[in-house]
Amino acid sequence: MERKKILVTGGAGFIGGNFVQYMVDKYPQYDTYNLDLLTYAGDLTKHKHIETRENYHFVKADIAERETIVALFEKEKFDYVVHFAAESHVDRSITDPGVFVQTNVVGTQVLLDASRTVDVTKFVHVSTDEVYGELDFDPTTFFTEDTPLQPNSPYSASKASSDLLVRAYNETYGLPVNITRCSNNYGPYHFPEKLIPLTISRVLNEQKVPVYGDGKNIRDWLHVIDHCAAIDLVLHEGISGEVYNVGGHNEQTNLEVVKTIIKTLGKSEELIEFVKDRLGHDKRYAIDPTKLEKLGWKPTYTFDTGIAQTIQWYLDNREWWEQIISGEYQNYFQNQYSF
Ligand code: NAD
Ligand code: DAU
Repeated sequence: MERKKILVTGGAGFIGGNFVQYMVDKYPQYDTYNLDLLTYAGDLTKHKHIETRENYHFVKADIAERETIVALFEKEKFDYVVHFAAESHVDRSITDPGVFVQTNVVGTQVLLDASRTVDVTKFVHVSTDEVYGELDFDPTTFFTEDTPLQPNSPYSASKASSDLLVRAYNETYGLPVNITRCSNNYGPYHFPEKLIPLTISRVLNEQKVPVYGDGKNIRDWLHVIDHCAAIDLVLHEGISGEVYNVGGHNEQTNLEVVKTIIKTLGKSEELIEFVKDRLGHDKRYAIDPTKLEKLGWKPTYTFDTGIAQTIQWYLDNREWWEQIISGEYQNYFQNQYSF
């Protein structure tokens, strides 16, 4: 098979990190370049076991720094770009929206321009179901690729803006692109500011778990490895210009998720602390993945098997998340909550 160069942005983060490891293992004939700024959410310790592989390369850079990015593309002439790098946490976008516009919108535009200069074969933009806004609690309604974009948070507004730029570069310049819009991911290396790893780490430390509002908001959970496989399929088989929703029909209320984790770890539900609701808190997300299934994708994990695997991973990899929660993250958490 022909040797290819693939640039993965945000490959030191949660999903990008899992995707880098997936690609390095699955495609020894590809050179996988992980480009990441190493913000609070990025760390390279997760790649210790692949860092000496010949087909893995790391570049520290800011996707919004035009000169650096264009020079890198001119030097390496990437065949594929898979774009994960972003500010990804809704709560942080509520307190500090500016960096979300800079990274998620400006950074995406810089990458699109750089991709044009070397005529990449495919640019996959990893987006989110949050761009569609929220659904009500009617379980027969789902987000499809034709659902209008109605983002409600500064985070989702910045992602929707980047989606529109990606679409425009396809329409205007003919850049070969796909946009994927996935539901909530969980799995190894999930940063402990997000609901599932936050709950696992706090329950293991016998600390209170903050549940926003009444805990009845619904999210549609997908194991990160199933998301990686979906992106791999879209990269190689997706029709240029198309959007693909990614989700595995695993809707859960937040309270159900927290209770499952507490029960699996054999702890008390008294650890649950209801706190004030998130501003503009979307009620429900649920994905219709029919279009992607027609391309040949299906998830390998149910929520039951996936959450069990994930909890076990956090038990087996305490040093990874303990090093995070003992650092700068502690200040963030204390500013958010009073416990
Ligand atoms: P993450 O916050 O764990 O990782 C983001 C990575 O991007 C980090 O390694 C960070 O250092 C890097 N980064 C941030 N700003 C950068 C910049 N200016 N230049 C270069 N690198 C930079 O995020 P995640 O949860 O892995 O999400 C990855 C992507 O997937 C995002 O685009 C997000 O919108 C999308 N997504 C996430 C989910 C989810 O449930 N987590 C679901 C659907 C889509
Ligand atoms: O839907 C995809 C999106 O999923 C991605 O685009 C985002 O990058 C990702 O962060 C995630 O966004 P959410 O806001 O859904 O994830 P989070 O883990 O922050 O919250 C999940 C739900 O749990 C949400 O309804 C808010 C609630 N929550 C969250 C935290 C951190 C709590 O009740 N307590 C908490 O402490």
